[in-house]
Amino acid sequence: MNVLIIGSGAREHALAWKLSQSPYAEQIFVAPGNAGTDEFHTSCAIDIHNFDEVAKFVTDFNIMMVVVGPENTLVEGIHDYFQEKDFLRDVLVVGPKKLGAMLEGSKDFCKAFLQKNNIPTARYETFTEANYRDAVEYLRTHSYPVVLKADGLAAGKGVIIAQTFEEAIDSLEAMLRNHKFGKAGSKVVIEEYLQGIEVSVFILTDGKEYVLLPEAKDYKRIGEGDAGLNTGGMGAISPVPFADETFMQKVRDRVIEPTIRGMQADNLDYTGFLFIGLMNVNGDPYVIEYNVRLGDPETEAILPRIKSDLFELFLALHDHKLGNFKLEIDPRTAATVFLVSGGYPEGFDKGKEISGLGQVDSDTLVFHAGTKRVDDKIVNNGGRVIAVTGLGNTMEEALAKANKAAEAINWTDRYYRRDIGFDLAKQPMH
Ligand code: AMP
Ligand code: GLY
Repeated sequence: MNVLIIGSGAREHALAWKLSQSPYAEQIFVAPGNAGTDEFHTSCAIDIHNFDEVAKFVTDFNIMMVVVGPENTLVEGIHDYFQEKDFLRDVLVVGPKKLGAMLEGSKDFCKAFLQKNNIPTARYETFTEANYRDAVEYLRTHSYPVVLKADGLAAGKGVIIAQTFEEAIDSLEAMLRNHKFGKAGSKVVIEEYLQGIEVSVFILTDGKEYVLLPEAKDYKRIGEGDAGLNTGGMGAISPVPFADETFMQKVRDRVIEPTIRGMQADNLDYTGFLFIGLMNVNGDPYVIEYNVRLGDPETEAILPRIKSDLFELFLALHDHKLGNFKLEIDPRTAATVFLVSGGYPEGFDKGKEISGLGQVDSDTLVFHAGTKRVDDKIVNNGGRVIAVTGLGNTMEEALAKANKAAEAINWTDRYYRRDIGFDLAKQPMH
């Protein structure tokens, strides 16, 4: 069966790598892909936001499965488009339709869904420019820090943690009055700050049954010790020591099961991955956010731990047989370290030749993100450039492998965090 993976990051490279191990997979295409997906798969220069173009590619190349990496394509309704066309209806799309994608596409929709289904989450209120004064009053009496969130997709930049009333008012004004995030900020969710440690939990679901995938912890800040600006993600560890059986049972009972029931009650007709961003507050899970896709870099840490055939898992999703699917998981720890361009997440130079890609030990995985082939060279072409994943019997062993590979791969100004996993060794068990 031919497969099309939509996206161009290390997440999509990891998906292509994993799917290509399946005997069911024939040709794997990645659109638009990167220099890494070029090597073993076929990158294709189609505009993924132009669904007519995607549809033509799917029919021309006899593709039976489309796996959607990024959220914006889902929020734009790629799955609905396939459903509406007779000749595309049989293509298995891994990723929810527009309505389900609202769980990520609108923070207000997400919070209302959580509240309606009694799923633990931070207390909140939503405001628009029309009730700006009420928002100011709400902030005046709120405890600090407080969290302000632009309602729509804002490429990870729409969340502000304000330490003081003045800071909160500045952000409120920027979003509601000065339209800092455009339409995405025309509604603002103001919520209580949760103190705890985060974990990313993933399921694959057809909206009725689900398979729980390995969890991971993501490191979002640019600097060591979790300092500095937010990024797309600088590294990940899976499994997460504090997400033990007791904690995960609470996650299943209090979060996953009510989420699935809520999807059914609202007829979300959900088919795909759901990434649940959780805060562990004194051993209890609270939902920070839903994402309607896999995480990046979490995917680069969790897929190497899945021993089962991912293709078979997707077929089980299609056939509504996830309830009986026994996912085999490698008990070892995976550690992912992201190499980024110097200056990221602010300005950086592109086009620098990357060396050392051939000097990585064979048991360490290399997933490309912002890379491009220019003649016989591979150059950096984005902020996050290469993710390397090591597997080991301990987190230290896995990290040693990933860090060794990170050291070997180089270009002018490349940067990576040397402290991924720093907070996990110290975590008490619950
Ligand atoms: P989001 O875009 O919703 O993932 O938020 C980005 C990041 O902001 C999260 O990964 C958390 O680190 C932080 N965050 C969001 N909401 C809260 C909250 N209520 N309390 C504490 N931190 C939060
Ligand atoms: N690693 C966080 C995300 O993919 O949104």
